[in-house]
Amino acid sequence: MSSAPCILIRGARILLPGGEFLVGDVLTEGREIVQVAPEIPASDTCKEIDAAGLTLLPGAIDPQVHFREPGLEHKEDLFTASCACAKGGVTSFLEMPNTRPLTTTQAALDDKLLRASQKCLVNYGFFIGATPENLPDLLEANPTCGIKIFMGSMHGQLLVDADSALEAIFSKGRRLIAVHAEDQARITQRREEFAGIHDVAVHSQIQDNQAALNATQLALKLSKKYQRRLHILHMSTGEEAEFLRVDKPSWVTAEVTPQHLLLNTSAYEKIGTLAQMNPPLRSPRDNEVLWQALLDGVIDFIATDHAPHTLEEKAQQYPNSPSGMPGVETSLPLMLTQAMHGRCTVAQVSNWMSAAVAKAYAIPKKGAIAPGYDADLVLVDLNNYRPVLREEVLTKCGWNPFEGWDLTGWPVITIVGGQVVYERGKLYTEVRGEALTFEPNN
Ligand code: DOR
Repeated sequence: MSSAPCILIRGARILLPGGEFLVGDVLTEGREIVQVAPEIPASDTCKEIDAAGLTLLPGAIDPQVHFREPGLEHKEDLFTASCACAKGGVTSFLEMPNTRPLTTTQAALDDKLLRASQKCLVNYGFFIGATPENLPDLLEANPTCGIKIFMGSMHGQLLVDADSALEAIFSKGRRLIAVHAEDQARITQRREEFAGIHDVAVHSQIQDNQAALNATQLALKLSKKYQRRLHILHMSTGEEAEFLRVDKPSWVTAEVTPQHLLLNTSAYEKIGTLAQMNPPLRSPRDNEVLWQALLDGVIDFIATDHAPHTLEEKAQQYPNSPSGMPGVETSLPLMLTQAMHGRCTVAQVSNWMSAAVAKAYAIPKKGAIAPGYDADLVLVDLNNYRPVLREEVLTKCGWNPFEGWDLTGWPVITIVGGQVVYERGKLYTEVRGEALTFEPNN
């Protein structure tokens, strides 16, 4: 049942806010968690879930996704994407502005919020996109998780690469700026140098480590000059991580994708253009340095950059093949599998995929299993391994870069706002998430 007024989750291994586990019960009422205890008395009116042997985590918050609606619905839409989220244990997402029309005005933001309220099975928030001309829109937009700047890897009007335009945005207002940090001038020049090469592996050479480092350094310089809240999206290189390690102001955060941790340029041989994304995959050494930066807190959290394109689009010859991979269905099991292999702990994964995101974006009442928090929860099974199968994916694009990988930690039940939205392969498509709120000056 999806409309239960209360849910009693029994005998779960519950991740508590301090990082320790309690085998016990959780009671939700309406949209909230009301009690966490070793044993909670049964009540006739509550739906009971027997969670013996399962681990209960706060629902994942994916802070960088591209869900394609409006305008690019042949790749994905807010309904299909949110179904994929529910299956993947992602109970909230923050979505990017490179839809059609671009989300660069209040009207476009309002349109997305309305569509999401009608179609989304999970909670939602949206970025407003910066153009060289829309500073007034950036200052006024509400509610939004922040301003997205594409410093490189252009999306038409969304490219802001001139120093003067960047300076204008960083110097006015206080809200969070999230940057796609790649140096467009360097990319343009290298594209010419490598023109005529159709091997997709050249993508990582064209949009190279230096292009990423240049832009990250520029964003950090501007952030420091104006003490402006900055978030560095999908950090991809060891160089950026090492740079940030020695000089990271308290108001700066950074994220990494599972792809940049777990895949590298060897993926081009195996999956070709399906491995093409921006910023590109890097070397095994970059994987290692990024992992260490994540473990050390230099990188704060994880995002998927879920960016679906159809198999037909991906089958075009490089460089006509589009960049981007889907991710929301597999991010949590991918990272939990790493934890089970001893690379990190389950508590760290949960922090990187929920609590740390809620903190960075100042989203109230998310990211912990405690009374008063929202009942956005995921029960995962850490004891069974199952492969990622193309025929099982829910994203409209119909593929996943990790097909064939044997993963554990798959969601068994996902709960959004106190309602079961996914249970053992079944979706409750009538459930709707809510618009996320962001505390002032997030
Ligand atoms: O690979 C990417 N694809 N990176 C981005 O930043 C955008 C995305 C897309 O929207 O396709």
